[in-house]
Amino acid sequence: MVFTVKDMTFKAGQELTISGKPKSGCNLFSINIGHDGDNIALHFNPRFNHAGGSNVIVCNSNRGGWGEEVREHSFPFDQGESFKVIISFNNDQFYIKLPNGTMMSFPNRFGDDSFNYIDARGDVKVQGIKIK
Ligand code: GAL
Repeated sequence: MVFTVKDMTFKAGQELTISGKPKSGCNLFSINIGHDGDNIALHFNPRFNHAGGSNVIVCNSNRGGWGEEVREHSFPFDQGESFKVIISFNNDQFYIKLPNGTMMSFPNRFGDDSFNYIDARGDVKVQGIKIK
């Protein structure tokens, strides 16, 4: 399933908090931030069990194709357990605070300071989303 937010603007310096729950049996889900479904500056993709990895977070960007992945092996997600992820960015980096407090970063390859497309895909139920 795809949960799409189109009427929120996420600006550099703001904090986006997403809470959700991976469904039981979840293989993977992703949170995507960009300009539209084909122009994704941050693809944040926890994989419980997927051909490309188990218990790993894969981040990437997509603009006419996937870029180089950044992988994080801290994996504080459980199927059926609610989580909260906090994302902020500047025109150089995204900063992602994982549910266990671990920080990871991913380059802002678009260099933009505003995005108005957010989605969540896969086996996840979005429970809340706020920007402040
Ligand atoms: C691919 C996967 C995409 C995306 C990408 C990230 O293998 O099919 O959905 O996660 O990796 O690099």
